[in-house]
Amino acid sequence: MKGLILSGGAGTRLRPITHTSAKQLVPIANKPILFYGIEDMAAAGITEIGIIIAPATGDEIREYVGDGSQFGVEITWIVQDEPLGLAHCVLIARDFLGDDDFVMYLGDNMLEQGLTEFVEQFETARAAADAPQLTETAVVPAAQILLAKVDNPTAFGVAEIGPDGEVVQLVEKPEVPPSDLALVGVYLFDPTIHEAVAAIEPSPRGELEITDAIQWLVTSGHRVNHEVLVGWWIDTGKKDPLLECNRLVLDTLRRSVEGEVDDASSIDGRVVIEPGAKIVNSTVRGPAIIGAGTIVEDSYVGPYSSIAIDCRITHSEIDNSVLLRRSSITDIPRLTDSLVGRDTEISKGDARPRATRVMLGDHCHLEIE
Ligand code: G1P
Repeated sequence: MKGLILSGGAGTRLRPITHTSAKQLVPIANKPILFYGIEDMAAAGITEIGIIIAPATGDEIREYVGDGSQFGVEITWIVQDEPLGLAHCVLIARDFLGDDDFVMYLGDNMLEQGLTEFVEQFETARAAADAPQLTETAVVPAAQILLAKVDNPTAFGVAEIGPDGEVVQLVEKPEVPPSDLALVGVYLFDPTIHEAVAAIEPSPRGELEITDAIQWLVTSGHRVNHEVLVGWWIDTGKKDPLLECNRLVLDTLRRSVEGEVDDASSIDGRVVIEPGAKIVNSTVRGPAIIGAGTIVEDSYVGPYSSIAIDCRITHSEIDNSVLLRRSSITDIPRLTDSLVGRDTEISKGDARPRATRVMLGDHCHLEIE
């Protein structure tokens, strides 16, 4: 079994962060979102992984991931010149995938449960294909999809399930959803999917939809199995879901204080202070993580904060926020629910007239107290 991770796309819903960086590299608890997906694949025993990248952000992703040896996997890079859809990714990954079964994973999605059980279930069902005595009772699936119950099915691909647990219908972003079961960004396929992606036409949004390709499998008489997700699933492509995901992952932290903490500071609860970080006359209350090289001085860092490497927090209070590397927060009495990009400065000035002075990039969002 191979793995295919989709890590292209423009990330428009996370601008301005994504003007300069890939959405899949935004850190959750100080680790890029994409790394969680690669680790889940490695844990499920998948060592040959193709990663689809876009021309604008591909180089940066390659730099972060390297050759895959840090995860114990081998990476093949596949460039998608234009965002023409998830099924288009399968089309251009044909040479890499060969005739192997594969798991396809959307690189900005995060799952609590991991992939091991999902992959094992498919492999067990597929094993019937190699054991003819079993095929009388078992129908060998060509695909398996992962579903989650959602409150807003119109925002997703939606599945309708038949009495035997087989998928009978799939619709992308339906106006009238046939169920509340949304397609989570994880799919398992056998090579039949290559016929399907070649047969479908672009959707009204101009993309080759993987949902349509799976519907093609169903219509052509192939069996598509499903599993309903246990545990959380988050599509991290917007600020608030990203902060929620950060909270969920920080909740699993184990305390580890390796940086310097002076006697005037207190570190409460599940906190990670990475080696090389410095906490001076401050309180850090977990769950929270402080990256290497970061200095927190005369400040309070409260629950659900992820502070990346080489940041400075001085005479400020912050909680429920994600700070990217090399940012600084100075004299800010309360910063909350925030996502702050790289090399960003937030400070309070004394200049007259007293006013808010900004230099903001495109597509920013600023909420003043
Ligand atoms: C894509 C799929 C959709 C799926 C969703 C999961 O949507 O097309 O079927 O439910 O991912 O995150 P998109 O994010 O491209 O709108």
